[in-house]
Amino acid sequence: MRLLFVTSEIFPLIKTGGLADVSGALPAALCNAGLDIQVLLPAYRGILAQCDSPRLLGSLQAFHDLRCDLYQTTLPGTVIPLLLIDCPALYDRDGGPYHHPLHGEWQDNPLRFGLLSKVAAMLSVPNSLQHWQPELVHCNDWQSGLTPYYLRQLSSPAKSVFSIHNLAFQGNFHADWRHQLMLSEQDFQPAGYEFYGHLSFMKAGLYYADALSTVSPTYAKEIQTEQFGFGFQGLLQHRAHDLTGILNGIDTQVWDPATDPYLPVHYSAHSLANKPLVKQALQAELHLQQQATSPLLGVVSRLTHQKGLDMLVDIAHEVLASGCQLAVLGSGEPALEQQYLALMRQYPGQVAVTIGYNEPLSHRIMAGTDIFVMPSRFEPCGLNQMYGLRYGTIPLVANTGGLADSVQGGVVAADGTLAETMTGLVMPENNPSTLLVTLKQAMLIYANSGQWQQLQKQAMQQDVSWETSAEHYFQLYQNLIDI
Ligand code: ADP
Ligand code: GLC
Repeated sequence: MRLLFVTSEIFPLIKTGGLADVSGALPAALCNAGLDIQVLLPAYRGILAQCDSPRLLGSLQAFHDLRCDLYQTTLPGTVIPLLLIDCPALYDRDGGPYHHPLHGEWQDNPLRFGLLSKVAAMLSVPNSLQHWQPELVHCNDWQSGLTPYYLRQLSSPAKSVFSIHNLAFQGNFHADWRHQLMLSEQDFQPAGYEFYGHLSFMKAGLYYADALSTVSPTYAKEIQTEQFGFGFQGLLQHRAHDLTGILNGIDTQVWDPATDPYLPVHYSAHSLANKPLVKQALQAELHLQQQATSPLLGVVSRLTHQKGLDMLVDIAHEVLASGCQLAVLGSGEPALEQQYLALMRQYPGQVAVTIGYNEPLSHRIMAGTDIFVMPSRFEPCGLNQMYGLRYGTIPLVANTGGLADSVQGGVVAADGTLAETMTGLVMPENNPSTLLVTLKQAMLIYANSGQWQQLQKQAMQQDVSWETSAEHYFQLYQNLIDI
């Protein structure tokens, strides 16, 4: 089965969030399952230099006035074939994949990701660059949302899967862009790529793809409701029979407390003895007091409304009064960043806040804290709670999306026995007082070291690998090809 996997970010080359982790790990799992796979990515600044001897395949005329070169290489550290779209006018610049270093989103994002979408489709019909053509094209989020449309425009025989990683980011742009992107006028309508008067990349993906998937079964249901559908609930209800939820896995090699190169010492489910040493080292690194017995709460996150971390600020004084420590790493909304920085000033030695993006520190927080807090308002899947499970850092999560599907809550019986299925704590409702109550429950279990260790072991034994989920994707692809 030949598959082209289209993405706008991929670990370890370029990452802003979970999509990069998924793009870095799922193709490898699919490859192991026997698929013949190529991954397509824009060659942002510095990417070609990070890859092993990229080979120029040739150039493509994607739009009237836009040519690009295509390079073939492999994803660093793997044998996964990687195709890179080189178009310096669009991709060779400082800043992030979606944002200017200072001034918000890139103004030409429609063209930058229109190109990604179009090249994917051009590689899926006979072309001068490659003999290899995919039978399936797997698109991810709005950045490749136009691919299913272009596949039809070019009469490609390839089938398309469009995966929703986050419905909140939709790629809606001024309708005038349709001319430059060579989208037909007659499809600019509700039964097409139009969404409330805009050209919508997300809408095109949802409307034209042969199959839709999202990153957890619960989110697949939630997005068909007004509360979580961001205006697409009607279309998603209409396409419900084409929509599947497949829970993400994690890269269990990159995220392994027994070998993680970012940790000072290592541990595993069989021997947790070194975990307190990682905590001690983290406390020293972050200038927190060396308190072995106070529960250390961890947060690694985008600081946005989605993640619900304003609720933790709301209850911070009560939580900190109970003796907890808090280690936060993240960036996002300036007001929330400021609130966390203010907490650190108010509680020196008890609260550590690092604003920014820091991969090594994220691993140390994941390993060195006791409880990982994720009170998300919505969470398509979420990966950090799974990293928490793998590192014996107990996730405390909201009851939504992939959080609900990956963390098993539970109770401690009156006689002190802990449910054998329990791997974390799940908030029954999503508000600050429930977060406080749930945190207090976590602290009670933490205070009983026997119970806590049992919980840690149960968490660490949960299967969070890609294996099962890759099989589900395999099945989804197979069904499409068989149609
Ligand atoms: P989302 O993609 O919605 O941000 P996920 O939980 O799926 O949420 O994935 C987030 C990924 O980004 C995780 O790998 C997490 O460790 C990482 N991450 C988020 N913020 C930071 C940060 N400030 N520094 C380092 N890694 C971060
Ligand atoms: C998005 C979602 C997150 C998910 C990730 C990878 O960024 O917000 O919940 O884990 O995509 O699928």
